[in-house]
Amino acid sequence: DGGSGHRAVLYLRPLAGRDTAEFFSDSRYGEFWVGARPTLEDVETETGIRTAHLDDLRDALAKDAGADGVQVLVVPDVDEAVEDVVEEIRATEAAGERDEKLAEALSELRLLKDAYEVEQMRLAVDTTIEGFEKIVRALPAAQQHRRGERVIEGTFVGHARQEGNAVGYETIAAAGEHATTLHWIDNDGPVRAGDLVLVDAGVEVDSLYTADVTRTLPVDGTFTEVQRRVYQAVLDAADAAFAVAKPGTKFRDVHDAAMRVIAARLEEWGLLPVSAEDSLQPENQHHRRWMVHGTSHHLGLDVHDCAQARAELYLDAELQPGMVFTIEPGLYFKSDDLLVPEEYRGIGVRIEDDVLVTADGNENLSAALPRDPDAVEAWMQGLLGR
Ligand code: GLY
Ligand code: MN
Ligand code: MN
Repeated sequence: DGGSGHRAVLYLRPLAGRDTAEFFSDSRYGEFWVGARPTLEDVETETGIRTAHLDDLRDALAKDAGADGVQVLVVPDVDEAVEDVVEEIRATEAAGERDEKLAEALSELRLLKDAYEVEQMRLAVDTTIEGFEKIVRALPAAQQHRRGERVIEGTFVGHARQEGNAVGYETIAAAGEHATTLHWIDNDGPVRAGDLVLVDAGVEVDSLYTADVTRTLPVDGTFTEVQRRVYQAVLDAADAAFAVAKPGTKFRDVHDAAMRVIAARLEEWGLLPVSAEDSLQPENQHHRRWMVHGTSHHLGLDVHDCAQARAELYLDAELQPGMVFTIEPGLYFKSDDLLVPEEYRGIGVRIEDDVLVTADGNENLSAALPRDPDAVEAWMQGLLGR
């Protein structure tokens, strides 16, 4: 209640005793099948929120739905059974639209992380970094296997299950030209010395907060000159984004800062049909051919957190302390792209870090995972025992 006139009640399906049919015969919820669940009292003690049995929800809602000025809203697409109950008891007109507003409001509540959430994000990122170390140690084995990308994925997924809850999203392990396919999750290709491997992977910890980190690594521990040139351009774009990621900057301006570097580098390499400045004009955007995705998204319980927040609180909003988002520029040159010199074809690079906005700037939560090319090589050589 807290004096607000509101009272939260958490309806759930608690542990059912041995004297119930559920205990033995319900293979989805019965303790005999799936193990013990907490009781209503357990959850009430843990959360401080009043609890009730899910079976009582229909009556409770029906009672409230009859009261003057009461709106019953439900977050769409979460629990079909609860949605059915709500649909049944409420007057329907315009309800769907109000439900969308509820989902939006819940999404917006997550834009600023509190101290506990930041701590969980740190844990998710640190655990993810340990997973990347295991990946580097697994690279020799990956090169020996016909599906070396699966060796990388399996290494990370195993780590995530052992040290956290799971992976927060499907791991991308993209060697060679696969790195130019943005959502390469088949991960069934070989991993060859001389190529780069782009790994986009995040551990979701037990509290369900997830990291979202990408590193693009030279399979044999050393970048070629061309790989390094492309890598450095992406790193410089990321650093430009970091430099402006502070309170007062608009979220979308972080992306713009990265794009200015990408366009300038592509101009330098002779890839743009117009100047970088012209390419950056909204109606042109030639440089986006090689970097089609956004530079940043909020991060938290969902990998693309706060996705239903309104633009004025997300893309068009000024950054505030407590926001956590990614900075993840990339450059992707398809192997059949005749607009780029042959030496670039088949190279894909992304560098993705997780950023916390602070009072006067930002903190790169994933800074402990090397990103400078010299540091990447030294770190890999240390892990590979060379
Ligand atoms: N791994 C998903 C993303 O980077 O947005
Ligand atoms: Mn991301
Ligand atoms: Mn990612």
